[in-house]
Amino acid sequence: MHALPLSLLLLTSTATVSATDLLLPLYTDPGSNGANWATVQSALANNPSLTARVVINVDNGPGNPFAKGGDGANWVAGASALADLPNVSVLGYVHTTQATRAYTKVIADVNSWASWVTAHGVALDGIFLDEAPASVCSSCVTYMRNLTTYIRDTAELPFVVYNPGFPATVGALDDYYAIGPDLINALETCFAETSDGEDLCTPAGSYTIYDEDGYGTTIDSTLESWVGTQYYSQTSILVHGFHGTNGLYSATSATLSSELQAIVERGIGAAVFTTDQWITPDVGPADITTVADLLNEANGA
Ligand SMILES: *[C@@H]1O[C@H](CO)[C@@H](O)[C@H](O)[C@H]1NC(C)=O
Ligand SMILES: *[C@@H]1O[C@H](CO)[C@@H](O)[C@H](O)[C@H]1NC(C)=O
Repeated sequence: MHALPLSLLLLTSTATVSATDLLLPLYTDPGSNGANWATVQSALANNPSLTARVVINVDNGPGNPFAKGGDGANWVAGASALADLPNVSVLGYVHTTQATRAYTKVIADVNSWASWVTAHGVALDGIFLDEAPASVCSSCVTYMRNLTTYIRDTAELPFVVYNPGFPATVGALDDYYAIGPDLINALETCFAETSDGEDLCTPAGSYTIYDEDGYGTTIDSTLESWVGTQYYSQTSILVHGFHGTNGLYSATSATLSSELQAIVERGIGAAVFTTDQWITPDVGPADITTVADLLNEANGA
């Protein structure tokens, strides 16, 4: 190999960290013609260089909005408006109950989502596997490997996310990362010290308060040793309950901006903050408009 000219060497050595994508669980009903998702759509349309993965969920899975009397047309309109945006992909929600749910039922859900593409023209990109196993378990690994292959090769939905929430023990997710999902959501927790009752952060004290010791400290004190920095680009973080205070910072836009910057700096693959839970994209301070703008900014756009 030829020696590189100095200018190129400098360029190579100052390569920036890659961007953090948005991973948004959007579990609300789309409403008439997708009207309930209008702010999500405009937030993402205003930030075309932000790569976003939006998880939709009819009824703890694909449900059947296309049955007689169902609101299939609203789901098609809402999901298509998102999927047709540049750099936005839409994922269907399927739960596995820690790889104990009957495999045939899970496959039926995957097939049902795949039919959104083939029968209804919605450009779904993949599947979000909720309640993914978080512990070392060889039959669970086989189950997840089979399922991932099925989703990609048979259902032809290329993007696969697992959500174990947090590893049960140090290194427990290694075998799952090795299967090669696009993302594993390895940290799902709350920001606020006190639950507001709407934020899925109850009972108080049952979760780890996010970054109560400073920006990026939850990642540094948990993910670094429990997951490993080598997996950061394949890892996502979901933080709900961004309201009130975490005991150190109040939940302002400035705090949110610093939180997102700390995540980008560490090279985490995808993240989101929401004010309440997964059905309130418009509620501030962490409403989707603010989150999309600030994450795009943190990525250096
Ligand atoms: C998608 O995102 C990439 C990376 O930020 C960007 O280069 C590209 O221009 C975006 N695509 C569109 C259509 O904006
Ligand atoms: C995984 O797939 C193999 C081959 O298709 C099958 O024999 C096995 O039963 C499957 N295991 C699980 C846990 O689904």
